[in-house]
Amino acid sequence: MKPAAGDAAQSIETVTWVLFGGGLLIFLGVMLLLAWSLRSRATSVRPRLWVWGGGVVFPALVLAALFAWVLPRMPAWKPVPPADALIVTVKAHMWWWEVRYRDTVTGADVVTANEIRIPVGKPVYFALTSADVIHSFWVPQLAGKMDMLPGRMQHLLVTAQQPGVWRGQCAEFCGAQHAQMALHVVGLQPQAFDAWLAAQARPAAAPATPRQLQGRDAFLAQRCNACHTVRGVSDEGRLGPDLTHFGSRLHLGAGILENTPEGRARWLAHIQQIKSGARMPSYDRLDAPTLEALGDWLGALQ
Ligand code: CUA
Repeated sequence: MKPAAGDAAQSIETVTWVLFGGGLLIFLGVMLLLAWSLRSRATSVRPRLWVWGGGVVFPALVLAALFAWVLPRMPAWKPVPPADALIVTVKAHMWWWEVRYRDTVTGADVVTANEIRIPVGKPVYFALTSADVIHSFWVPQLAGKMDMLPGRMQHLLVTAQQPGVWRGQCAEFCGAQHAQMALHVVGLQPQAFDAWLAAQARPAAAPATPRQLQGRDAFLAQRCNACHTVRGVSDEGRLGPDLTHFGSRLHLGAGILENTPEGRARWLAHIQQIKSGARMPSYDRLDAPTLEALGDWLGALQ
């Protein structure tokens, strides 16, 4: 079992162990009684005492006590975010995650996808919704799961307790590629987080080599920009993930491939084999140098 990295997950872990420990004690007690009844030829069992005492009073007391103990540990249904909380809006799509931050300097939205970075030790208020069907946001090491419903905002309040990378997964069946709808949350020290967010707010880096230039031209020539925004290159795409700083992400395809030259090449040419039914077609009709240039340019979008 991976250790909890967020306060909400920590509380779930504590409750789990207490309930497990209590259940174990009761199980051992029952086993002892069983062993005792098998060994002794007791004839003086008082059935009323055991049925009412052991079958009604005892479980009622134990369950009531556990209920009273667990109740204050449940997460708030509508948590009130502290004034200094970072607000992150996550909108689920079939089958990827749109992630939105507010740039505190300019007030503009900073949009990214499939990877959420958060500062350690600061409360993060996730506002969760969906663009199409019901999905569910679940990063087990940070918090319990929360459904993402179209036309509605749900909330999770989480504080990461240490830096790290935690895998998340859509936890509500949402179609053919539900299982391949993963995400990663990266916990950063506050300073590193501020630097990252400032970088994400900037437009895309200009191509630095002829090959990257060729990749950017292919992106426009193939009309990739009809679905994908790369700020500074084309702002019209709304259907697919924002790729402005794609190269800075650890994974692609909603957490399923590593963001390496090999991963990008496989993804561009064979997406329909890897994630059949995704809205993007396989670009295996492009020649190898063009695909390589595209992958190169995307990787350079730091
Ligand atoms: Cu999205 Cu399952």
